[in-house]
Amino acid sequence: MTGLLQLLLLVSMTVASEPSCPACSKYDYEEKVLERMIRMEFAFEKVLKENKAVSKTVEQDLMLIKEENERLHATVDALKDQQEQAERKLVSLMEEVERNQSSTLEKIVSDSNNTLEQTIAAFNDIKDQIATQLVYFHARSPKTSSLSTGEVIVYTAVETNKGNGYSTTTGKFTAPVRGLYLFFMHTCTPTNKYTYLQILKEGSVLIASEYYAKATSTCSSSQAFVQLDAGETVWVQCSTSSHLYEGLPYRWTSFGGALIHN
Ligand SMILES: *[C@@H]1O[C@H](CO)[C@@H](O)[C@H](O)[C@H]1NC(C)=O
Ligand SMILES: *[C@@H]1O[C@H](CO)[C@@H](O)[C@H](O)[C@H]1NC(C)=O
Repeated sequence: MTGLLQLLLLVSMTVASEPSCPACSKYDYEEKVLERMIRMEFAFEKVLKENKAVSKTVEQDLMLIKEENERLHATVDALKDQQEQAERKLVSLMEEVERNQSSTLEKIVSDSNNTLEQTIAAFNDIKDQIATQLVYFHARSPKTSSLSTGEVIVYTAVETNKGNGYSTTTGKFTAPVRGLYLFFMHTCTPTNKYTYLQILKEGSVLIASEYYAKATSTCSSSQAFVQLDAGETVWVQCSTSSHLYEGLPYRWTSFGGALIHN
């Protein structure tokens, strides 16, 4: 640009100093013009040379700037990548923390639930161990009123039979669970007759009675506590031939029992 301005200035100066005197010869004039033109050419070449040098420097500078620019771009891109990576890492870390928190919470809840369930199960076990099952029965109306020695009395009418321990087929009670039981027999004897009865556990006598009804039919009772294992049996048996009687109201010749503790 500077070179072009210099050239323009030179041309205008040359034009401006054209001969104005009429006295000057044509030769003289032409010589002067030539001289000027040669000077102009020199000047022009010089300007061109300088211009070339300047433009080369500018080119180099431009190249440097371009390279610098590229380096800066690369650095900016790398920084951008790093930032994006950092952001992604942060997001996934936050997600992991969230997942961990919720899974920790779930674990606490399920652990507490398990503990609670174990506690309830243990409590129920203890409750079952402490609780006495409901077992009791009462049966009356013996099948026969005239008994022979050794006969088992079969009470046919069941008043109650919780736990189904008593059998109207055999007349015997079978313990459904282990425990302490209380048994009784209530026996009414016809007038002028004898009754000889026993309560037996697995063939062993727990208690015996002998009763004679002198003036009128009367009743008697016997009781026995006994520890039984599940499956052991208890019944009423006649030890010597006897007579039984069942009268109204509620004079029941009966056999009953209950589990009182296990
Ligand atoms: C998430 O839990 C896992 C397994 O317990 C553990 O290795 C990891 O460090 C936890 N992450 C965070 C961010 O707490
Ligand atoms: C606790 O456990 C029971 C039985 O497994 C289940 O029905 C219940 O949904 C559980 N409760 C929780 C809060 O997990």
